[in-house]
Amino acid sequence: DPDRLPVSYEEWEARAREVLEDGPFYYVAGGAGGEETMKDNLQSFTRWKIVPRMLKNVENRDLNVELFGKRYDSPLLQAPIGVQSIIHEGGELASARASAALNIPYIASSASTRTMEEVAGVMGEAPKWFQLYWNKDPEVTASFVRRAEASGYDAIVVTLDTPMMAWREKDLKNVYLPFLIGEGVGNYFTDPVFRSRLGAPPEEDPAQAVMHWTKTFGNPGLTWEHLLFLREHTDLPILLKGILHPDDAKKALDFGVDGIIVSNHGGRQVDGAVSSLDALPPIVEAVGKELPVLMDGGIRRGADVIKALSLGAKAVLVGRPCMYGLAVAGEQGVHEVLRNLLADTDITLALCGCSSIAELNESILQASKG
Ligand code: FNR
Repeated sequence: DPDRLPVSYEEWEARAREVLEDGPFYYVAGGAGGEETMKDNLQSFTRWKIVPRMLKNVENRDLNVELFGKRYDSPLLQAPIGVQSIIHEGGELASARASAALNIPYIASSASTRTMEEVAGVMGEAPKWFQLYWNKDPEVTASFVRRAEASGYDAIVVTLDTPMMAWREKDLKNVYLPFLIGEGVGNYFTDPVFRSRLGAPPEEDPAQAVMHWTKTFGNPGLTWEHLLFLREHTDLPILLKGILHPDDAKKALDFGVDGIIVSNHGGRQVDGAVSSLDALPPIVEAVGKELPVLMDGGIRRGADVIKALSLGAKAVLVGRPCMYGLAVAGEQGVHEVLRNLLADTDITLALCGCSSIAELNESILQASKG
């Protein structure tokens, strides 16, 4: 039955491979360099084993978590992913709608094809966060933050691991960078400050606008002190995404940010970097009492969610699985992927002998002997 949707992550990925051309498929599925970190993000989960507890009455369960004074129904969020127009014509609006239907926070990427206002527009009151790429032009950065506040986003996620694109061999082989063909620039081309820097509007001279985008997108000159600029421009909670070193986690605390997302960008930036799950415990140890620590990278099944939360993550972000759902079946595909992950998480929680997320801790984990 060709209309039957996949269940396993592996089958979603295989079906996405069938429907996408090489360029877009490998843009999503690929990583930096030899993809060692991308693979280790998954393998590191197998290095922890769950030791379930019995006879704990798990009849009534609740997956809710509290973050920054707000209740969320579950510890899952959609990771920020740009240029979703290359995956499905519904793009970010389809993913955002799927999130809203399940009340799973959607983190809108700066590099989206559809604008943050359009994304917010299809989500109603559902929870949404905005991911900020810090533009070289500080006024563009400030404008993005203002727009995010005005359109109802609940938090700002600053991604720190992408001051430039990494060496991605699959994209180099396919000569594929979606931004250069005008995808993923929706927030920029509609931004009043960005537009004011151009000789002609992007609608009249797209090539020039893309050129200006390439010159200003990445900001390798950023330092910790720049975070103070952001703090002055918003009262929303600020999370730093891409922290891997416990000393950076401590610096985040010193600079007054509100949360951390342990991430290596899905293995797409530093090949050979520590896996997200391996990076998590030392960071929780360093700052977990003071700051919520979230993580992403390699979350594929309920057991992965349970392991990450047991090691101290307050919530986890899901990246590629949603994109394979999007490729295969648009909004319905993303919805199915997330709904299945929620169900798997709930069942696994119960089978581990827990009725709430707060009960999870390292006592149900054992480092693998294998
Ligand atoms: C990403 N990621 C990402 N992160 C971010 O902060 N802003 C962005 O625009 C993007 N864009 C993006 C595109 C694609 C195609 C992928 C696969 C990833 C990284 C993403 O938020 C997240 O960190 C990883 O995807 C998590 O790993 P998994 O779940 O894909 O293993």
